[in-house]
Amino acid sequence: MTLKGLILSGGKGTRLYPLTYTRAKQLIPVANKPVLFRVIEAIRDAGVEEIGIVIGDTGPQVREAVGDGSQFGNVRITYIEQDAPAGLGHAVKISQEFLGNERFVMFLGDNVLQGGISELIKDFGNHPEWNGQIVLTPVREAQYYGVAKLRENGSIEYLVEKPADPPSNLALVGIYMFDPNIFKAVHSIKPSKRGELEITDAIQWLIENGYVVFPHVHRGWWIDTGKPHDMLDANGKVLDELVPVIKGYVDASSLVDDRVTIEEGAEVINSVIRGPAIIGKNSRIVNSFIGPFTSIYYNVVVENSELERCLVLEHCRISNVPVRIQDSLIGRYADVGVADSKPHAYKMVLGDYSQVRLLK
Ligand code: G1P
Repeated sequence: MTLKGLILSGGKGTRLYPLTYTRAKQLIPVANKPVLFRVIEAIRDAGVEEIGIVIGDTGPQVREAVGDGSQFGNVRITYIEQDAPAGLGHAVKISQEFLGNERFVMFLGDNVLQGGISELIKDFGNHPEWNGQIVLTPVREAQYYGVAKLRENGSIEYLVEKPADPPSNLALVGIYMFDPNIFKAVHSIKPSKRGELEITDAIQWLIENGYVVFPHVHRGWWIDTGKPHDMLDANGKVLDELVPVIKGYVDASSLVDDRVTIEEGAEVINSVIRGPAIIGKNSRIVNSFIGPFTSIYYNVVVENSELERCLVLEHCRISNVPVRIQDSLIGRYADVGVADSKPHAYKMVLGDYSQVRLLK
């Protein structure tokens, strides 16, 4: 039985402003690879070849970055345009023609799951009697997610989207498997309070109408890269599992420890890099310290500065900063330096919704 893949890559990413003013949130890299690419690879590695990607306002960027999918090997990509961010249930509705009568896996393009989804897909394939499979995981603040209440025997009692008073700590992870009965569900439900057709409500409809939905409880880490803090967390967790490779140049006076990846054309001069960390293509690290859980993307220059647990995007320049920069997300082409003209003051050009924390 073949399974198709459906990736949702629309949405405005407002919680990640200002980075997402100019970039689709799914294209922001985690450990130097866009989250969306990690999602495509996870689906491909589970043996799925036909993948539909639902795109919205940022569609042109997604199309440009992903193309026809040939860069990922054996996958074929079809783009499905969603004219308004009307919910995950709506995304399924408009994908019916692409999905046809096949069972499919749906993956939110901003989710990263430890261990991939190969086992989940195998389980779903081995259970043709399951009409759906959902993935649940314990979280601290369940009110921000879809939440499941399970019975003693582990079956689903009910699901509820973003409840003010969560009935459990089990959140719905953004990975779902369905058979074509889901189309009946998305056509039967009504928009939620936030005006969206919720996939959680569609699955609840399946349960109420006697369909079988299996809840898999995931025990590893899972990250929904919706907020800046989540991006830094995801970056740290993925870096922790990266197999290090040194392809760039490290001079004799630098110290680069075991868990560091240096990509092609990168140069590390008279610097200390403490892993897990990654230095991207053609970036230059000079007289600097790059601390654990830091990703430096491509064409970045860091000189006479110290960074730790940071995500620095492409084409940035960070020079002569006298205090360590930590827990920071730095967007493309940002230039962080010292004021060398009078008056002696903080001087900034900040984009909308930027956040700066200065020392007292
Ligand atoms: C969506 C779903 C929610 C799920 C979450 C996982 O929320 O509606 O049930 O728990 O994804 O990332 P949203 O990102 O639309 O707020």
